[in-house]
Amino acid sequence: MIQALSYLIVETPHLKDWIKQVRDHIGMQVEVVETDQCVRLRIDEKFQRIVVTKITGQASMGMGFEVIDSTELSRIAKVLEAEGYAVTQGTEQELVLRGVEGMIFFHDPDGLRIEVCHGLADADSLFEPGRPIGGFRTGEMGLGHVALITEHYEKLSHLYRGIFGFNLSDHTDAPFRVEFLHCNPRHHTIGIADTGGPAKIYHFMLEYNDFDDVGRAYDMALPDPDSIGVSLGRHINDHVISFYLKNPDGWMFELGWASRTVGPDWEVEELEGLSLWGHDRTWLPDDKREEARQILNRLAKKGVRAPVIAPNQTTN
Ligand SMILES: [Fe+2]
Repeated sequence: MIQALSYLIVETPHLKDWIKQVRDHIGMQVEVVETDQCVRLRIDEKFQRIVVTKITGQASMGMGFEVIDSTELSRIAKVLEAEGYAVTQGTEQELVLRGVEGMIFFHDPDGLRIEVCHGLADADSLFEPGRPIGGFRTGEMGLGHVALITEHYEKLSHLYRGIFGFNLSDHTDAPFRVEFLHCNPRHHTIGIADTGGPAKIYHFMLEYNDFDDVGRAYDMALPDPDSIGVSLGRHINDHVISFYLKNPDGWMFELGWASRTVGPDWEVEELEGLSLWGHDRTWLPDDKREEARQILNRLAKKGVRAPVIAPNQTTN
C-alpha cells in the first residue's frame, strides 16, 4: 500500500526560471546539487521534496510515492510486474540524490515516470523558506496532490486503486470526467481527469499553513495575468481555497490552503461540479468554460457553501 506522495522528479530546460519561481514566488528552499544543472527543493523537514534537473529536451515530471519498508517495496514491484509493467531498480546514485533507502521506477500508461520508495530521510538542518511564509502542510498527508489528464482513464484508475491501494474520495462527470483518490488523510493525493485532450500533467497542489501566504502569492502573480491558469476560488470537494500558477514548463502549481481531511468513515460523493466559486479555468475550451460558469451559477442559486476548517497556523 502506498502511504503518501513524497516527492517529484522534474526535468526541465528552464532550470533558472524554476529556481526563481519556487524560491521567490512560492517560498521553497533551494539547495544546489550541481551549479546550473541540478537542485533539490525543500518545503519541510525532509531531505528533499522536488529534485529539478536541467535537460535540453522535452520537460517532464515524475512522482515518488512512499511505502513503509523494503518488504512492501518488493511486494509492490512484483505486483506491478505481474500486471505487465517493466520495473527497474533505482541506482545508488539515484537513491543518494533523493535521500531514500530504496526505490523502484516504471512508467504509467501515459508514459509518466512513477517511483516507489521507502525511507525518505529528514534533512540535517531546519527548513528555511525562500520568502517569509508560515511553511507548508505535509506530514502524514504527504507532499500534496497531483492531477493528471490521461488518455488511459481505466488503466490509470486501476493502477492507483487496484495496485497502489488508493480509495475513491469522490468523482464527477462535469465539466469533464474526474475521480479523486486518497491514500492518507489528505482528501486526494491523485486526481485523474479525462478532458478529451491529450495526456498531460494538469497541476501539483501545495498547501500553505497560512491563508495570507496564498493571498501574497496571488498578489505576486497578478502583474502577469497570463501566469494565472485558474483564478482564485474554492474547490467543492477538498474545500481548498487556491489559485493555479503556471510554471516554466507550462503545467501548474495549485497554491492552496485549508483542505479538509478524510477518515475511515468517508462516504464517496458524486460532485455537482469542481468548485464552489471562482476557479475560472482560462485553459478550457469556450464551451466547457461556459458549462463551468453555469455550474457555479447553479451552486450559487442553491446557496451551497462549506465550513472553513483552518489547519494549525503559525503565530509569528
Ligand atoms: Fe487540485
